[in-house]
Amino acid sequence: MTIVVVGNTKGGVGKTTTAELIAIERARAGRRVLLVDGDRQATAQKAIAIRAEAGVLPAIACATYFDGPVLRSQVLTQKDLYDDIIIDAGGRDSTALRAAMSLADVLLIPFEPRSFEVWALEDIAALVDEVRSVRDGLRVYAFLNKAEPGVLSTDNRDAAAAVADFPQIEYLPKILRRRKAYSNAVGAGLSVSEVKVKDPKAIAELKALIAAVF
Ligand SMILES: Nc1ncnc2c1ncn2[C@@H]1O[C@H](COP(=O)(O)OP(=O)(O)OP(=O)(O)O)[C@@H](O)[C@H]1O
Ligand SMILES: [Mg+2]
Repeated sequence: MTIVVVGNTKGGVGKTTTAELIAIERARAGRRVLLVDGDRQATAQKAIAIRAEAGVLPAIACATYFDGPVLRSQVLTQKDLYDDIIIDAGGRDSTALRAAMSLADVLLIPFEPRSFEVWALEDIAALVDEVRSVRDGLRVYAFLNKAEPGVLSTDNRDAAAAVADFPQIEYLPKILRRRKAYSNAVGAGLSVSEVKVKDPKAIAELKALIAAVF
């Protein structure tokens, strides 16, 4: 059983997108998956509702718990029913994010390749310190999301250098580039491997990220 929380105190970096894509791909690979929406806005839950409405298989179990203590107790209660629990922790420094980090095996941090986004890692790094002061076993990875297509090696090098300022966080050299394939698929409650017109680059990037996380 693996609990992955996709979190960043910074908004709009791709937490919901990443959580949904990972949950769907793991379910497609035959794992029993629970997607937890830890955001009041329930964007992930809404996308999964669209998927269910369209009758797309596999169906994804999805629950919304934006209150930290509720999220914690519900995940602990249900965890043995699933192989993977993927938590979209929502934006900001919420109780849901803290609760999710208190349980998770992996914290996966999407961040954008602009300097102010990189500075925003300070907040999440401080939260990692806090969690690690009370428990062991939290692996923490950051990866670049919404990188512009092209210039692969310099993006990776710059991002790795930025993350190196935070010894709490390991840089995962897997990039999801800015591609319409991701936003279009996730908006319809699908992964990039499920849409009619497929983007092979998006599919390959996502596969590489998931392989690195698990
Ligand atoms: N790799 C990508 N390529 C293109 N668009 C993307 C990518 N990742 C995310 N997006 C788009 O960026 C926007 C923000 O993404 P998303 O909602 O996943 O971020 P979030 O971190 O969950 O935001 P919030 O903090 O509001 O919950 C969405 O419109 C989404 O479709
Ligand atoms: Mg979100």
